[in-house]
Amino acid sequence: MEILTNRDEIRAWAVENRKAGHSIGFVPTMGALHAGHLELLRTSQTQTDRTVVSIFVNPSQFGPAEDFNRYPRVIEQDKHMLRQAGCHALFYPGVAAIYPQHFQTSVTVEPLGSDLCGRERPGHFQGVATVVTILLNLVRADQAFFGLKDYQQFVIIQRLAQDLNLESKIVGVPTIREPDGLAMSSRNRYLSQEDRQRAAAIHAALAAAKSAFTAGEKRSGRLEAIARRILTEASIHRIQYISVRSATTLLPINTVHTDGVILTAVKVGETRLIDNMLLNLPDQASPSS
Ligand code: PAJ
Repeated sequence: MEILTNRDEIRAWAVENRKAGHSIGFVPTMGALHAGHLELLRTSQTQTDRTVVSIFVNPSQFGPAEDFNRYPRVIEQDKHMLRQAGCHALFYPGVAAIYPQHFQTSVTVEPLGSDLCGRERPGHFQGVATVVTILLNLVRADQAFFGLKDYQQFVIIQRLAQDLNLESKIVGVPTIREPDGLAMSSRNRYLSQEDRQRAAAIHAALAAAKSAFTAGEKRSGRLEAIARRILTEASIHRIQYISVRSATTLLPINTVHTDGVILTAVKVGETRLIDNMLLNLPDQASPSS
């Protein structure tokens, strides 16, 4: 696996591979890799000739009171996992390679970026949109892979790629879950044993809303109430939002006709967890499916 650490190296790698006639897949991450990230890599490997994964804990997407400093950094373990998985290249830049001196530009996707998670995390999606634009522009991959676990992030990145006419096709990959349904996340390791058990209720709540939907309940308010009750029964009281939206625009809808998604963000202990479930398609990698 090639390890590239600055803008020139990643650009040259991409140019060389394109010249050799290879299609390129790109998987941006912040590291502390788990099975969810590896699923993005695997999907890229099945659809493209050469995959590059990036690991960059992006300071601009963390708020001042958030976990930037304590975000898990386990680069040796990550490299090992990527090598084992047959990844062709790792882009592992330092902060100055992404944000050189005098950097002033930012990308905002509004109003999408200030709704839902954007309400609780002002500036977060501006940080995400900015770094993803830089990365996509450096790699110019044929396809870039993002998890549907971060559904709002996925919709924002699709929007910006379309609006800015970026070259890469943005591909969404279904959520990988623990056996009890909890969506895999680098932040799950912050949970105490007791909180880890309670956190399974997040998926259970969304799944209950989905079965009610499948059984004929189309009213957003009812579906949200069903999910909310399961969360509170599991003593998850700090619900930042639980909301049924259009799966394409993320705008609020009163009734789910064709393309719904139910999204939630909760705090379990001191850890903020998000999850979602599509309401129109067959289940996203649910443990029971
Ligand atoms: P990170 O949280 O490391 O996630 C990297 C990618 O893995 C994202 O596309 C995310 O949606 C996906 N992912 C995380 N958990 C997943 C799971 N359980 N199943 C499937 N995919 C999963 O998201 C970010 O980093 C950053 O915001 C980034 C896009 C890299 C920009 O800094």
